[in-house]
Amino acid sequence: MTNIAILVSGSGSNLQALIDANLSGHIVGVISNKPDAYALERAKKSDIQTRVIEHKQYPNREAFDDVMNQQLLDWNIDLVVLAGFMRILSAKFVSAWHGKILNIHPSLLPHYKGMHTHQRVLNTGDVYHGCTVHYVTAELDAGQALAQGVLNVKHCDDVRSLAQRVHQLEHMIYPQVVEWICSGKIKHLDDGTVLYQHKAMTQPVQFCQL
Ligand code: GAR
Repeated sequence: MTNIAILVSGSGSNLQALIDANLSGHIVGVISNKPDAYALERAKKSDIQTRVIEHKQYPNREAFDDVMNQQLLDWNIDLVVLAGFMRILSAKFVSAWHGKILNIHPSLLPHYKGMHTHQRVLNTGDVYHGCTVHYVTAELDAGQALAQGVLNVKHCDDVRSLAQRVHQLEHMIYPQVVEWICSGKIKHLDDGTVLYQHKAMTQPVQFCQL
């Protein structure tokens, strides 16, 4: 069985979707870098152990990541799932967990890496928007994309409505991708190749809500 750790910083609606999905993997624990993250309450309600590691208490990124790394090793984790975890990870940490860290990002990567994605989509006047589940690499929001949820931007959309609709897509695609990994449908090979149903994956699987 795949032992999963989920890293959070905020509300944890994606964590909730992962809990509710009854994955074949086991969510062993939740780590937050913020002591007041609502995600921690969600984990506790589902009897999942939590650990707060406040980044502010460490002199630098590496020191914070080392403590996180040790907790993941103590929990015997196979898969690290970033669910609204708003810290950039050090190259050392990412390399230690190469092929074992996933992130969800609120845009159709490679477009709109970084912050304020909904506002940037509206500013540009894009027709499509969505979210991407991808492997994490040292470069921000640049690892292999595994799945995307795609929606149509409507004339009446604002940042709030887009955020809400993207969240709905996130809650659908993130548990699906995690389950694909737990069940062996997606495999990350040591040479970096990602297999989906035993074939090299060149494009993310797309879920459209148009
Ligand atoms: C999600 O929309 C996720 O895509 C985003 O944070 C939100 C967390 O919501 N992540 C990033 O922007 C990472 N770059 P949640 O706490 O309700 O799951």
